[in-house]
Amino acid sequence: MRRNKVTIVGAGNVGATCAHWIASKELADVVLVDIVEGMPQGKALDLMQSGPVEDFDLRVVGTNGYEETKGSDVVVITSGVPRKPGMSRDDLLATNKKIVGDVSTQIAKYSPDAILIIISNPLDAMCHVAKHVTKFPRERVVGMAGVLDTARYKTFVAMELGVSVEDVHGMVLGGHGDTMVPLPRHTSVAGIPLTELLPKEKIDAIVKRTANGGAEIVSLLKTGSAYYAPAASSVAMVESILKDKKRVLPCAVLLNGEYGHKDLFIGVPVVLGARGVERVIEMKLNADEKAMLDKSANAVRELVTALKLE
Ligand code: NAI
Ligand code: 2OP
Repeated sequence: MRRNKVTIVGAGNVGATCAHWIASKELADVVLVDIVEGMPQGKALDLMQSGPVEDFDLRVVGTNGYEETKGSDVVVITSGVPRKPGMSRDDLLATNKKIVGDVSTQIAKYSPDAILIIISNPLDAMCHVAKHVTKFPRERVVGMAGVLDTARYKTFVAMELGVSVEDVHGMVLGGHGDTMVPLPRHTSVAGIPLTELLPKEKIDAIVKRTANGGAEIVSLLKTGSAYYAPAASSVAMVESILKDKKRVLPCAVLLNGEYGHKDLFIGVPVVLGARGVERVIEMKLNADEKAMLDKSANAVRELVTALKLE
């Protein structure tokens, strides 16, 4: 029987941590790709050598090329550069557009049937780049942000109430940025509406902290951005696809009229299974929630326009 194969492009913090979690869950053979010579090879070998301790029998290889990635089932794209001093948002957009574009071209060549999970920022815009370059159907290009933003939201709710994270249910929609849309009206703790458990000020503070979740970690780390929760979130998506779990997860997907938007990647609930995005679920949003989602969509649209994809 053939084992599943997952390629991770970008063997930096998020990419290497994804590989770690995929291996420890024994989900698939892993190929780590990076432009830095020796680094993906070294990390892959190191991870392989944890197999006898952690009891997994997977093949983990590192490479600076794409031959090894051939026939991957899922490809996770984390390659990119962070914003450096003096770099404008448009400079970052242009740099990561080139990186994600080049990588996606190679992936489409070597793994034409793969499902792509995009992680590189700015997330929603980079999904457009990958979709544009690969011309894969929308089912097979999906962005990770909502799972992470939701995980942060649930963590803060559980911390505030002093309850298990397992009992917190909810979702964060929208683009991956300040305009993301946490949905307190749809959040519950073991079925009890959050709005009955916390006063509005506390909920507002949690919503604000969630929207600022990435920046909060950056300000603590100082030399990079979050990677444990981002990698765990990405691997939850990989797992749902490889095991055809059909989990309902908030993911960036190319909308085709759902939620009143067309030709735009934005985070909404989807069913994620063996075919990738198997269904978009349309929630009934009230006027305020819809207005927030529209605002978030407009922010993403601005970035996509700046990409000038032809
Ligand atoms: P990192 O800097 O640790 O790793 C990025 C890696 O990409 C580096 O090893 C670099 O050598 C590699 N790379 C650059 N150009 C490449 C190319 N053309 N081909 C192959 N590899 C290439 O960064 P980190 O922390 O792993 O973050 C990766 C990306 O994910 C960033 O854009 C970050 O903003 C984004 N991110 C997105 C999240 C989300 O929720 N969507 C959450 C966390 C990070
Ligand atoms: C985060 O939210 C940087 O997008 C990344 O942590």
